[in-house]
Parts: sequence; C-alpha cells; structure tokens
Amino acid sequence: MPEKKRKILVTSALPYANGPLHLGHLVEYIQTDIWVRFQKMRGHECWYVCADDTHGTPVMLRAQQEGIAPEQLIARMGAEHKRDFDDFGIGFDNYYSTHSDENRELVTEIYKRLSKAGHISRRTIKQAYDPVKNMFLPDRFIKGTCPRCNTPDQYGDSCENCGATYSPTELKNPVSALSGVPPVQKDSEHFFFKLGDFKDFLRMWLFPREHKNDRDIHVQAEVANKLDEWFDAGLKDWDISRDAPYFGFEIPDAPGKYFYVWLDAPVGYMASFQNLCAKKGLKFDDFWGKDSQAELYHFIGKDILYFHTLFWPAMLEGAGFRKPTSVFAHGFLTINGTKMSKSRGTFITARSYLNHLNPEYLRYYFAAKLGPRVEDIDLNLEDFVARINSDLVGKYINIASRTASFITKHFNGQLLAVQQFTKGDSNYIDGVRGSAFQIAEAYEAREFGKVVREAMRIADGVNQYFDQHKPWELAKDPKRREELHQVCSRCVHAFYMLTIFLEPILPKTAERVAREFFEKSERFRWSDLETFPVCINPYQHLATRVDPKSIPALLDESQKDMKTMAEKTSATITETSDLARHPILPEISYDDFAKVDLRIARIVKASHVEGADKLLEMTVDLGGVTRTVFAGIKEAYKPEDLEGRLTVVVANLAPRKMKFGLSEGMVLAAGPGKKDLWILSPDTGAQPGMRVK
Ligand code: 2FM
Ligand code: ZN
Repeated sequence: MPEKKRKILVTSALPYANGPLHLGHLVEYIQTDIWVRFQKMRGHECWYVCADDTHGTPVMLRAQQEGIAPEQLIARMGAEHKRDFDDFGIGFDNYYSTHSDENRELVTEIYKRLSKAGHISRRTIKQAYDPVKNMFLPDRFIKGTCPRCNTPDQYGDSCENCGATYSPTELKNPVSALSGVPPVQKDSEHFFFKLGDFKDFLRMWLFPREHKNDRDIHVQAEVANKLDEWFDAGLKDWDISRDAPYFGFEIPDAPGKYFYVWLDAPVGYMASFQNLCAKKGLKFDDFWGKDSQAELYHFIGKDILYFHTLFWPAMLEGAGFRKPTSVFAHGFLTINGTKMSKSRGTFITARSYLNHLNPEYLRYYFAAKLGPRVEDIDLNLEDFVARINSDLVGKYINIASRTASFITKHFNGQLLAVQQFTKGDSNYIDGVRGSAFQIAEAYEAREFGKVVREAMRIADGVNQYFDQHKPWELAKDPKRREELHQVCSRCVHAFYMLTIFLEPILPKTAERVAREFFEKSERFRWSDLETFPVCINPYQHLATRVDPKSIPALLDESQKDMKTMAEKTSATITETSDLARHPILPEISYDDFAKVDLRIARIVKASHVEGADKLLEMTVDLGGVTRTVFAGIKEAYKPEDLEGRLTVVVANLAPRKMKFGLSEGMVLAAGPGKKDLWILSPDTGAQPGMRVK
C-alpha cells in the first residue's frame, strides 16, 4: 500500500555568522540533508530551511574589528556559508538570514503575545560592564585567573585547563577581554521570559504518560533523562534582553534594549520558512498554525538542547503556535579521537576540506557512523581513507566500472530484462530488491549506519557473484554469450538499485549515474526501484580513490588557516594588551592632576652617555629655562634626530641623581620599551614653555 503523502518541515541549527563552517557543523547538515533527501525521494512534501544566525555581541565586535558594518559582515559570511553548503550538496529549500524583515516581524509578534499573556517580567540586575568600551560584557568576554586551578587568562564561564565552570564573578583578577580593564558591576533593567509558567505544559509535552504513536514522542529517550534533571533543578526565568550597543532587533517600546540573539534565532526557522512561502505560494499556517497537521523536525547538536526542548516549545505554546513534532539531537565530532584542535591542525574548515577531498566521501563516512542516538562520532582519518577506498570505491563504484564494459562492448549497451533472467539466479536480484523495505525503515529512523552496512553487504554479494562467474572468461567463448549477458545485466541491475539506496547519502554521484549511465532525465526516486533499466551508456569514471597524501596536505592547510585567523584576532588583543598588562590606575582628583606641571619643551641638544646602554642625555629648553634630562630612549632614537624637536616634559619632578649626572625632569614617552618607544610631540603651534593641561 503506498504510504500517505506527508507534509514535513525540517530545520538544522542556524550557524553563527561570525565564523566559517567546520567539519563539526557538517555532521548535522549532512545528517539532516540525508534524511530530507530520503523523504523527498519517497514522494513526500518535505521542506528544508535554514539561515545564518546573525545577531549578538561577537558579530558586532568582529565587524568593528574589521572596520565594516555588521550588515556587511553578515552578507559576506552568509555567502561563504551558502557556497560551502552547496559544495557539500546540502539541499536547503531556503537559506535565509535572521537579520530579515520576516524575522523582525515574527519575533516582535511573538514577544507581544507573550507579554500580553503575562509571560514577560522585568527587573533590574547587576551585570559586568566594561567602563572603557562602555558596554555590558557577555561572560565569554571576561577573562581572569581560574578560581580552582589558578591558570591565568581563562574565560568568564569555564577554565580550559581544569574544565571547571563558574560565573565570571568567581574569576580572580577579572578583566574585560576587550579593553583589559577590570569590569565594574552596573545595574540594568532586563526582560525575562517566565519559563516556569510552562512547567505543566512542558512536563506533558516532554514526558507524555501515554502515547498513541511516535508523533507523541518529542525527544529521544536519553534527552528525556537529561531534561528530567533540568526539571528537578527548576525552570528559571530566561533573560531575553541585552543592552545597547548590540547587533540585533530592538525591543518594542524599550529604546536601547535588544532581543537576546537566542530569542530571535529559532524564530529564524519560521522566518526562513515564511520567506519560502512567498516564493513557492505555500501557506505559513499549514505548517506553523496551532492546529497544523504537518510534521516539524529540528535537527540540533546536544549543546543546544535547553533552547530547543524547553525555551522554544514554551515560547511557541505561549504565543499560540504549533510545537515541534520532534527535536533530534546528535553528538559532537571528534577527529582522531580527540576534540578538534587548532594547534594539531584538526580544526578543519569546510573550505579546506573541499580544497583537498571529495565532499561525497565525508557524507558517506559520516553516514556510516550516524545513528539515532546522541552519541559523539569520530572521524578517524586513517579509517576514512581505508573505508572510502575499500568500500565506496572498491565495492560500490567497482560494480559499475567492471561490468559496464562487457555490456557496452558485447551487447551495444542493451541489458537483459529481469523477466529474461534464468530462474535461481534471479532470486539474487529479488534479494537485493528485498532490502528496500529494511533500508527505507533505517533511513526513516535515522539509522544511516545501518543503511551503509546493508548497502555494502549487497555490494559484497554482487562482487562475489561477478567473480564466481568470471565474465572475462565467458567473453572469450561465443557459446557462452547468453550467460555473459545474464551475469553482467544482473550486476548492472544491482548497481542501479544500490544507487537508489545510496542516493540520499551520495546525491551528486547518484545524479551522475542516473543522467550519464542510465540516461534518466530526473534524479532517482524510491519508486524507481519498481522499474529496471533497459540499457546503459558507456561507463565514465565516477570516483577516484583517496590519495593518502591529501590528508597531511589538508591538516597542513588547516593549521595555516588557524594561524592566519589567530593573527587577525590578535590584532585587537595587541591593541588592548597594554591595558591588560597595566590596568588603568585608581581615580585621582583634578587637583591631584594639576600638581603635575607638564610643559612643552624643545630638545636643543641630545647625545650618547658614555658607559650607558639605554640612556640619552638631552638639554631641553622650557621657554627660557634649560634643563638636563636623562631618558632611556637610546635604542629608539638617534640623538641627531631629536635635536630641534618639540616634546612634553614633566617640569616639576624632583631632580634625580643618577650614575651619570642629575636628571632635572622627565621626557614623556609611550611604548613597551627598547626600540618600541615613542616620545610625545605637540601639534604645530605649541611653543616651548606652554603648560600642558
Ligand atoms: O549554537 C549555535 O551555533 C546557534 N547559532 C544555533 C542556533 S539554532 C536556532 F535556534 F536558531
Ligand atoms: Zn582551572
């Protein structure tokens, strides 16, 4: 019985617009894309939408650092992300941006509905504030010494050395990562979403006491356990506002207050879909309305479960929208068994992978490792090369490359029809087709590892069948021509079915096979399993084995990439690190300042001091009075370059007796020392003797 046509909307988490995509991201997009492609092949109405997650402090700061508007930055990142996704064959029906009119309108509407229903509260809280940059600091932008293991230079939320998590107020000697000054605590009124109002709803939604079918189960079993713990810990109010300066949407009637990026990000799923509706003439409410019968699935990483299984369904419930059918969480990616590491070169961006390796190979490898549970998956690079070469190329592609030439050469590309297969042997083909049901079930249940195992089991069988019948010998004997035709046609049939089975995982390869080999005008659909090809075109090369040398080349490029990225970001750090090293001193009164007598002075004479490594001796004219000063600027200036210049001198500093003579003042200079010292120069017009104030 044909399956009823389903209406399905699918999303993957929105990637942040402040950085490139890396292989960790791709686990999720590949997982989702495979599932979506399968649903489409089955003939269901399935839409896959996503967008760049554009708001928040990191995007704002990165744009500042690059000297461009945030809008420019997000446009550039959006285009880069799109290109990476396209090249990995991620087939979004719409890829949008959270910085869109649709998103602004939707998030505003949702906020207004929540507010009207009494789910928003306001209160004043104390927050870390950077008095130099004049902004509140997210935890990630506060650095200091770990309160547990005393490692310096740790972020405000966790220690990279000992793994402790804490609040920024617990850090020792905290400083702003932006300016290097200690943050101060400052009051600010914030808006909160009262998650606790939804306790009963969430309990029912997450832990249904009885369920009629799978559509009543919204989270994986292991996620439900985790959620139970969070429930026990209590559902706290969620802070949904941030103060200016912030890149985001301003909260209505609250000037200077913005929606926290995490409030508008999931609304971005709706906004992207709304944008698609306008392009395709779809009805938004059919998918998001309270009574929608469509299915809605969010694929996410395990780190953002709280947002998707508590805040998000509660927001939707409070604002009168439908809730997700299911949230599917996956684990993290490790490379060679450990966390991706910038220094080991295993922090691999999508682009550097694409520069060295075929994207379908990663899709295949991830699929082979993916299952429905929240487990981490490992990309072992040696295993990757071995599996692609021995399984994907050595088993699956091999079937076409070794059988097609016989059909082309001896039978002019014509295949025997299944009905012409001799009994007994044809059982084998039936056996292959018999796997279709099992494979479809595995796809539906996100058991992609099972799909790959089953496909490889079939490929092994076909290759063995080929080897047993030795077509290369049959071809030499004209009497056995019929047998040759049987054997090779069967293998091509099996290849045809295998390609359909693998289409969601290998869309580009399958599309080429359909078009070039079987001369089909459209991509494969699942229903193509019911018909068989009658002829083939000559085989064209489909895939090459991975050259093991491409792995070190990739790691090398990744390491270089990371270095360049680190250098770019260190530009801001250097700019601010003087402050980090020498935080601004405690406040003084104007009277204190006025005690320092700063004067414009002309350097009339400068000379080396015999026996001194660092000092220059200078005679400075303070507008009629001359003084002798010694300054440690020998490595930075030649005496002859100083003579005649104007500078600033502390004129009333108590004379200091030095080894080489009496210093009667001080020339002002800035910089870390040695060659890097710069004396001050007044603007043109200032005259010796003028007071600096
Ligand atoms: O964790 C992240 O990378 C977020 N940008 C995901 C947002 S998903 C959704 F809620 F928009
Ligand atoms: Zn620590």
